[in-house]
Amino acid sequence: MRMEGFLGTRADFIVDTVMITSALLPFLLLIAIFFARNEKYDLHKWSQITLFTVVNLLVIALEADIRFGGINKVIEQSKYYGSETLTIIFLIHLLFAISSTLLWFWLIIVSVRRYPVHFRFPHKRYGIITYIDILLTVITGWMLYAMVFAN
Ligand code: HEM
Repeated sequence: MRMEGFLGTRADFIVDTVMITSALLPFLLLIAIFFARNEKYDLHKWSQITLFTVVNLLVIALEADIRFGGINKVIEQSKYYGSETLTIIFLIHLLFAISSTLLWFWLIIVSVRRYPVHFRFPHKRYGIITYIDILLTVITGWMLYAMVFAN
C-alpha cells in the first residue's frame, strides 16, 4: 500500500524519507570527516560504514518503490515527463550516483583493510573527491525530485 509523503508534493513516504536523509547526508558526512580531523579514527571509520549502509538500504527501498510501488503513475503526472531536460538531468544524476556509490564503497573497503596501519594511497584526497561526488548526487537528486514530484 502506498503511504502519503510529508513534504507536500506528489511523492510518497519512502521517496520523502530518502530526500530528507539525502539532504542531511552532506552534513553527517562532514561530521564523520571531522572525527578524522580530531584523530577519532574509530568513530570516523564506524560513522562512514553506518552512513554507507543506511543510505544504500534506503536507495534499495527507493528502487523497489519505483519498480513495484506504482510510483510510475505519479511520475507521469509531471509536466517534465518525457522531456529532454528531465532525461539529461536524470542521466547526469545517474552518473554521479553510480560513481559516488562505487567510490565510497571502494574507499571504505581499501581503508578498512589497511587500518590502523598508515595508508599507502592519498586517503584524504580520495575522501574529498568522494564527498564532492556524493554532494553532486544529492543536488541532482533534489533537482529530479522538484521536477518529477513538485511540478
Ligand atoms: C571506513 C573506512 C575508513 C577508515 C578506516 C578511515 C580512516 C582514516 C584515517 C586513519 C585518517 C587520517 C589519516 C589520513 O588522513 O590519511 C582519515 C582521514 C580522512 N578520511 Fe577517512 N577513513 C575511512 C573512510 C573514509 C571515507 C569513506 C571518506 C570520505 C567519504 C573519508 C574521508 C576522510 C578525510 C577527508 C580525511 C582527512 C581529514 C582531515 O584531516 O582533514 N574516510 N581517515
